[in-house]
Amino acid sequence: MSNTKIAILGAGPSGLAQLRAFEAARLAGVKNLPEIICYEKQNEIGGMWNYTWRTGLDRNGEPVHGSMYRYLWSNGPKECLEFADYSFEEHFGKPIPSYPPREVLKDYIMGRIDKQDIRKYIRFECPVRWVTFDDDTQKFTVTVMNHKTGEQETGEFDYVVVATGHFSTPNMPYFKGLEEFPNRVMHAHDFRDALEFEGDDILLVGGSYSAEDIGTQCYKYGTKSVTISYRSQPLGYDWPEGIREVPLISHFEGDVAHFIDGTSQAFDAVIMCTGYLFHFPFLPDELRLQTHNCLYPENLYKGVFWQPNPKLIYLGMQDQYFTFNMFDAQAWYARDVILGEIELPDLATREADEKKWLAEYEKVQTVDQEIDFQALYIRDLTNVTDYPEFAVEKQGEIFKQWQKDKKVDIMGFREKSYRSTLTNTLAPELPQPWLEILDDTLDHFLNLTSIKEKKQKKQKKTAS
Ligand SMILES: Cc1cc2nc3c(=O)[nH]c(=O)nc-3n(C[C@H](O)[C@H](O)[C@H](O)COP(=O)(O)OP(=O)(O)OC[C@H]3O[C@@H](n4cnc5c(N)ncnc54)[C@H](O)[C@@H]3O)c2cc1C
Ligand SMILES: NC(=O)c1ccc[n+]([C@@H]2O[C@H](COP(=O)([O-])OP(=O)(O)OC[C@H]3O[C@@H](n4cnc5c(N)ncnc54)[C@H](OP(=O)(O)O)[C@@H]3O)[C@@H](O)[C@H]2O)c1
Repeated sequence: MSNTKIAILGAGPSGLAQLRAFEAARLAGVKNLPEIICYEKQNEIGGMWNYTWRTGLDRNGEPVHGSMYRYLWSNGPKECLEFADYSFEEHFGKPIPSYPPREVLKDYIMGRIDKQDIRKYIRFECPVRWVTFDDDTQKFTVTVMNHKTGEQETGEFDYVVVATGHFSTPNMPYFKGLEEFPNRVMHAHDFRDALEFEGDDILLVGGSYSAEDIGTQCYKYGTKSVTISYRSQPLGYDWPEGIREVPLISHFEGDVAHFIDGTSQAFDAVIMCTGYLFHFPFLPDELRLQTHNCLYPENLYKGVFWQPNPKLIYLGMQDQYFTFNMFDAQAWYARDVILGEIELPDLATREADEKKWLAEYEKVQTVDQEIDFQALYIRDLTNVTDYPEFAVEKQGEIFKQWQKDKKVDIMGFREKSYRSTLTNTLAPELPQPWLEILDDTLDHFLNLTSIKEKKQKKQKKTAS
């Protein structure tokens, strides 16, 4: 082992990607690997995918990280997030439909991790409290609260990898009169079970993925009506009766929301689907990334290295079309820089490179261009590492088709099938309409058979 020490903050998909990258090097025979400690606030790996029923504070009094809810299904095709070194087919032993529910995706993430002995690097229930960098020693000091021992711990590191996610701290707006609203007001971060709103008229604020997904899910589980209030532009899908879009709220009067177009309606609940804040309470100003949800945050070389001090590494801070394989691409690149396989250029060159990417990003206008931009970014990283080849451009094309499918049928796009770019297998069709599959557990999903098949089986049984 070398003398280099690395702290990885967070054991979600990004932090795990970093652990996996070093493990891949070890398995490839690389000697002198750095010493790694991964600090994780929760008591299990998986980050956002580690579903919790809790809201507010966890059992240690820490803010609950999870924003995922029951009945959540992947909102993009799984063929676009397949790890290049571990296919879905390898994990499940058979092809599965293109849009799996949360529990199925989590099982896949865990499958890759359980194949390797990397849990030993993780200290659970250790939220990071504070990080500093000493210019003289060129080392970071990381202080964590170890809830298992009840004591604070401090360690010195050469590199710090921030992988704490950015979809956990709610961006919570205020509208006049909200304090008098007599019913439930919450953020999407605290949404867990659509059945809570069965028979209700609900108001969702926001015009992005959370509004779209919580809206369609509540419709699926029997909400009386869903009204989506947008600020910039409507989602614009062909909604079924029972879901509609309205412009922004001007104010509330009792349980009535008034909108800026002069219309109004009474509601049983308000859910703010208004996105998340980048929140790093453990970082001082000079180390803290300050950005909003976008495809190329400023001050990061290659979207990863903190420009003023590239020993500080951020993973997964981009808005995400690509997820798991993008985190891998970043982690493999970061690993090679730490191992000295890739030499970092000087600050001026790094800044020029960032400027070039930001200038390209400026030109991006359409969703298709956004997808191409993120695919190009990933290709730029994987070009120079030994991360297994995967057809990121082909996956980009699948994402473009996904956008079209949603335009055609927002309630049925999850019934589409795509071909894996790894195995070339076409995913089987979802045997029943997504709207009809209320049980989204792993077992049920893997054993789904079509109504047609069931009928045929029954007929055969009766005939014999
Ligand atoms: C509602 C919702 C649905 C989503 N659905 C999809 C989907 O269908 N498909 C998809 O690909 N992506 C989806 N995503 C995106 C999701 O964020 C990524 O898939 C992925 O989880 C990001 O990984 P990450 O490791 O960067 O962050 P996270 O998964 O957020 O993990 C961060 C980890 O850091 C830990 N942590 C935080 N603060 C500290 C601290 N101070 N000290 C120590 N540890 C800390 C957390 O406990 C957590 O384990 C969804 C996100 C949300 C919010
Ligand atoms: N099933 C799934 O897989 C699933 C489900 C939900 C979420 N997700 C993931 O979760 C991530 C976050 O999605 P998100 O939708 O929560 O956040 P987001 O994409 O950042 O969008 C935030 C939305 O809130 C709006 N908003 C912000 N402040 C507002 C205000 N003051 N008033 C009104 N509207 C306001 C924004 O409007 P403007 O456009 O005007 O800025 C934007 O439409 C995404 O990566 C998504 O893929 C996945």
